[in-house]
Amino acid sequence: MRSNVLYSIETKSLTKSFGDETAVNDISLSVEDGEIFGFLGPNGAGKSTTIMILTTLLKPTSGQALISSFDVATNAKQVRQNIGYVQQEITVDEYLTGRENLLLQAKLNHIPKNEIDKRIDEILTLIELTDKQDKTVVTYSGGMRKRLDIAGGLLHRPKVLFLDEPTVGLDIQTRRKIWQYIKKIHDEFKMTIFLTTHYMEEADQLCDRIGIIDDGKIQVIDSPENLKKAMGNEVISIIFEEGENRDSFLSELEKIEFVNKINKDGSKLTLFASNGTEVIPKIFYISSKLNIKITSISLTQPTLDDVFISYTGHEIRDGDSKFNQKREHAKMKRLRA
Ligand SMILES: Nc1ncnc2c1ncn2[C@@H]1O[C@H](COP(=O)(O)OP(=O)(O)O)[C@@H](O)[C@H]1O
Ligand SMILES: [Mg+2]
Repeated sequence: MRSNVLYSIETKSLTKSFGDETAVNDISLSVEDGEIFGFLGPNGAGKSTTIMILTTLLKPTSGQALISSFDVATNAKQVRQNIGYVQQEITVDEYLTGRENLLLQAKLNHIPKNEIDKRIDEILTLIELTDKQDKTVVTYSGGMRKRLDIAGGLLHRPKVLFLDEPTVGLDIQTRRKIWQYIKKIHDEFKMTIFLTTHYMEEADQLCDRIGIIDDGKIQVIDSPENLKKAMGNEVISIIFEEGENRDSFLSELEKIEFVNKINKDGSKLTLFASNGTEVIPKIFYISSKLNIKITSISLTQPTLDDVFISYTGHEIRDGDSKFNQKREHAKMKRLRA
């Protein structure tokens, strides 16, 4: 029952517009205490804007957001006391040592003097930087810098930690290590974590629940397991040579038993089917009847990529180009003005 559930984050019809552009569009969600919740979406989807509202750095245009029941617009001070925020760009000072960076953070966060050393030692152990604490950050790798950045956001023991694209730009091995540290930190402090990402695997690995966000709107919210399960049992990917029978081919495919949904992306098709092994021979039958040449066909269990395509109609990469198109459009508008 709702009365027993404590929410760390609640938004109600949260909306943010910049001029005639709606970056965050009517978002309502609740994140329970201790949950790891992720926003998965392409560049320009509205992830950072949402985080900036939740961390009191931007005011919403309309709607409401509460952190530990404090309103971000009217109780900003209390909200800030409850949160940690690690932004996308690395913010640690390159010319200070690891420890000096954390000392600076501790002072900025008004941590009691007699607590500072203890907390820094504890956090350095947790992120395994004790050995490197007296080296200047210039000598640190990208992954070490990110770990230090995350550590800085934890010193005041926030109830809610915001991580905006925590592993963007890092190589896959380093990314996996950061995931382990995030899990470790969550096990240790049990805080609520709200993270954003455009990496499917990251959302899948870390999050209890995911909100798929595209063009400022939430398309769906659920656990990675449920999202994948709801896709139907299997995914059939087809690449075919387009010809005059394309339309008949597509409409015949739609009629096959067990085919629940088809996504069409040029000559690439994704079929969501509850019984893939029965469906594949039928696809070949139809294609040979209509003289359509299939260049590749594969059958796989659904992944979060498939979930994303199913809800947004495009791959997450396409989102980047849409983002760039928007930028281009804005640039043209400026040039014309
Ligand atoms: N300060 C701003 N002024 C104007 N437009 C902005 C501003 N910040 C973000 N936007 C626009 O809002 C949309 C969402 O951006 P953002 O929240 O940064 O997306 P994401 O973090 O998902 O990549 C984009 O189209 C972006 O161009
Ligand atoms: Mg962003």
